[in-house]
Amino acid sequence: MSDFDTIDYFTDPSLVPDPHPYFDHLRSKCPVVREPHYGVLAVTGYEEAATVLKDSDTFSSCIAVAGPFPPLPFTPEGDDITGQIAAHRSQMPMFEHMVTMDPPDHTNARSLLNRLLTPSRLKENEDFMWRLADEVLDDIISRDPVGRCEFLSAYAKPFSLLVIADMLGVPEADHEEFRTVLGAPRPGANVGSLDHSDLVGANPLEWLDEKFIGYLEDRRKEPRDDVLTALATAKYPDGSTPPVIEVVRSATFLFAAGQETTTKLLSASLRVLGDHPDIQERLRRDRSRIPIFVEEALRMDAPVKSQFRLAKKNTRVGDMDVPAGTTMMVCPGAVNRDPSRFEHPHEFDLDRKNVREHIAFGRGVHSCPGGPLARVEGRVSIERILDRMGDIAIDEELHGPPGARRYNYEPTFILRGLTDLNITFTPVR
Ligand code: HEM
Repeated sequence: MSDFDTIDYFTDPSLVPDPHPYFDHLRSKCPVVREPHYGVLAVTGYEEAATVLKDSDTFSSCIAVAGPFPPLPFTPEGDDITGQIAAHRSQMPMFEHMVTMDPPDHTNARSLLNRLLTPSRLKENEDFMWRLADEVLDDIISRDPVGRCEFLSAYAKPFSLLVIADMLGVPEADHEEFRTVLGAPRPGANVGSLDHSDLVGANPLEWLDEKFIGYLEDRRKEPRDDVLTALATAKYPDGSTPPVIEVVRSATFLFAAGQETTTKLLSASLRVLGDHPDIQERLRRDRSRIPIFVEEALRMDAPVKSQFRLAKKNTRVGDMDVPAGTTMMVCPGAVNRDPSRFEHPHEFDLDRKNVREHIAFGRGVHSCPGGPLARVEGRVSIERILDRMGDIAIDEELHGPPGARRYNYEPTFILRGLTDLNITFTPVR
């Protein structure tokens, strides 16, 4: 028996820096396998993951943000626990946000986003991103003209925060306040924490809720020609007007869902540039590869490494019987490196043909509505970073030399991302 057969994925910090040997081990046993501590079924195979994520009739998202913690507020009984889920939903973490809802409530909540994430809004938002990237890079270069920075705090966090603020139409005059309030205690920072504390009742979005209630009540009283007004006057698909709080939750959840994840994508990308000078050089010569680079970074280091579902009914996935009440852990981190789908899966390959088949943005009705935005954030950032930072390298004083690097990752079982990334570069003014 290997240590991987007995290790507790949900608490053991040794799996945090590199979970892939563990994921590979699970997949080598079976693409759907029961882990021993909480009875969770871990899904590491590509086809099996797609089956689970696409079937919201059979699998509920009610445990999407917490997995097996806290335990279910009821004991599953019988072949179909749909009624039990409905009766206890309000006792489950983040029940008021769309990510934990099932259709038809989910369909309503998600429809409000459609008013927001339109192609024309994305285009305006992209224009803002080009400006913002330069402002943040100007700031980095003026603070340290020698060319050193801690990339997450200096670039990735403020950039991803303000892109969402702009997407939602937060007036630029308020951006500094958002940066100050949300810069330190990050929304969503406790998601999947290995110590399992602070998961119940924690609502890091309260400040945002208050702020947006103010914006939207104001716009309902006095409509203007702006994004917040479009949001404030959005209707449900049946034509009814949602209560302000429902719209607010759809808006503020974007910060929780989009800021941490994009920060993780950007920092993983910069790490690749620093660790692989050949890839950096190739991108500098051929900027048309940047979108593929971003996809491959998503595949290799999926910021959401595990997603959770609860089986509502008795069913089967792959060769496994799945009784109603089973917690399913679909692991995009593992699925994106399934060798039956991706050749030489552990290599970063800028020429990978099927790279877009990765599931870093999930699948099915909950698949990430922010995917197009995150991709543009990646493309714009890498473009401007390559323009403004020559010879990007990993700071060896803090991370060690090539071959013996030391990186720290956030201790969570859901997300995958660096805690800090120190780089050196030649500033280009
Ligand atoms: C690299 C960046 C991102 C990654 C890897 C990512 C990944 C994901 C994944 C895997 C899900 C599905 C969760 C589930 O099925 O349980 C999801 C949902 C979601 N994401 Fe993202 N996301 C990213 C960026 C963003 C951004 C920028 C936004 C918004 C501005 C956003 C908004 C959302 C929302 C609202 C949901 C919930 C959708 C629903 O439940 O229907 N995400 N994301």
